[in-house]
Amino acid sequence: MAPGAQPERPQMVQGSVPWPDLADALGRYRPLFGEVVDDWDGFIDSLRGPLATCLWTRSGRTDGAALQALLAEQGVPSTPVPWLAGAPGTALTLPPGFKAGQHWWYCAGLAHAQEAVSQLPVLLLDLAPGQRVLDLCAAPGGKTAQIALSLGNRGTLLANDFAMDRIAALQGNLDRLGVVNVTTTRWDGGNFPVAAGPFDRILVDAPCSSEGTLRRNPGLVSKLGPERSTRMAGRQRALLRKAVKLCRPGGRILYSTCTFAPEENELVVADVLAEQDGRLRLLPLTLPGLGTGPGVTHWAGRTLPQTLAGCLRIWPHHNDTGGFFIAVLEKDTAAPGVPAGEPLPLELEPDDAAWCHALAEHYGIAEPITEQFRAHRQTRRGLHLAARDHAPPAAPLPEGSGLFFHRTNIRPPKLTTAGALLLGPQATRQVLDLDAPDLRDAYLRRQTLTPTAAQRAYCRPGQVIVRHRGFPLGVAVLHRSGELESLFPRKWSGCTAAG
Ligand SMILES: C[S@@+](CC[C@H](N)C(=O)[O-])C[C@H]1O[C@@H](n2cnc3c(N)ncnc32)[C@H](O)[C@@H]1O
Repeated sequence: MAPGAQPERPQMVQGSVPWPDLADALGRYRPLFGEVVDDWDGFIDSLRGPLATCLWTRSGRTDGAALQALLAEQGVPSTPVPWLAGAPGTALTLPPGFKAGQHWWYCAGLAHAQEAVSQLPVLLLDLAPGQRVLDLCAAPGGKTAQIALSLGNRGTLLANDFAMDRIAALQGNLDRLGVVNVTTTRWDGGNFPVAAGPFDRILVDAPCSSEGTLRRNPGLVSKLGPERSTRMAGRQRALLRKAVKLCRPGGRILYSTCTFAPEENELVVADVLAEQDGRLRLLPLTLPGLGTGPGVTHWAGRTLPQTLAGCLRIWPHHNDTGGFFIAVLEKDTAAPGVPAGEPLPLELEPDDAAWCHALAEHYGIAEPITEQFRAHRQTRRGLHLAARDHAPPAAPLPEGSGLFFHRTNIRPPKLTTAGALLLGPQATRQVLDLDAPDLRDAYLRRQTLTPTAAQRAYCRPGQVIVRHRGFPLGVAVLHRSGELESLFPRKWSGCTAAG
């Protein structure tokens, strides 16, 4: 078939982008087919098909087999993803369109929905507990949570993003998943203060033209084009340059995008490598069990060094996924680093330890909260918990450090929902187990209900932690009348259709 000619496609998948529109929008990549990748028709076809839902289990709370059993009870088939076996938690694929966020186990932080290919960068970041890590473009935080858990929920991970509303979404995910080793910052990553460094690992999951997400966002098709990619590339270069500066000598940077455009991928990496003049090298990547393609080395009249073939491309038609690009860079041990900056003081005020003790006493938590975590006060509203060895920098000023667990500026003070999910497994009193109908029809909908005497057995009137099948979901007030008033947060009530 002549380049640019459109084959006839008799059937269109409902809701997907018409074949000719897609082939037009991505037609500039046609020359790569036959050179670095096969099957142009298969590529375009794959972008028109629905994409499987994927989620990973929150290790320490559940595992793949247990979540699969829960899903099977609901009649939902699921399969482990073999090529994500090394990632934190177990990755499962589910049917396209499955809305994980509407299920009680999602609200309880047993799992997180994240596209399969998006789970790859953390797998390739070579993480180990004790490393100091920066996630430069972090929101909404799927990868941040994966990194945090790969670090054992200890130590220091800085999660930065430019967009305030997206940082709020990120914090919501971290709270639900019980992550306590993250400090969030809101900063232009290209100008991130060097006083925050140095870092052992840096993830630059860059803002991009997102062509690889067309299966989820067909509406994007009208916005694509080289101008958009060229515009993004300036910002991407600035982000990667800053990451190189902030990385410790001998440390690693992973640069990723979910787009096909070489302008946003190999060209960005090649330019930054050239600027570093041998002080930075591209590491070869392998992913057993996953069909991947090499990086592009000829594009738009430019020939890149052959080493750029060591970048990793994931094409949607090879594994029935979205599209993705990954490059891992290692900074030479002799390259210049940045000095460690001042740490941020994370402290309790004089009366705050008493709040922690009273809370532990109320719920019968044996081990003092202040010994388990680095409890501290960031705001007048109440107290946060961070990992004991969490040591964020003083600059840039954080949006938040750790998990907000106790509201002390109201009477009576209140354990937050995130606090209930984190501390609930240790509670020995003031816990009340609800069955599925009560949970679905009342508690998650913020309705009042009347639990049975057996359900109230470990509770006196006052605040209680609500559980289902032993998993904490949040807080409620048990009134003297025997009525239970739900305090499940409105903003979490995407979780109302419990299954
Ligand atoms: C691809 S998304 C990151 C997805 C995220 N890593 C995850 O796994 O959930 C890119 C993010 O970069 C942020 N961003 C865009 N420009 C930025 C900049 N100059 N500095 C920091 N973040 C930026 C966007 O707000 C967006 O949240």
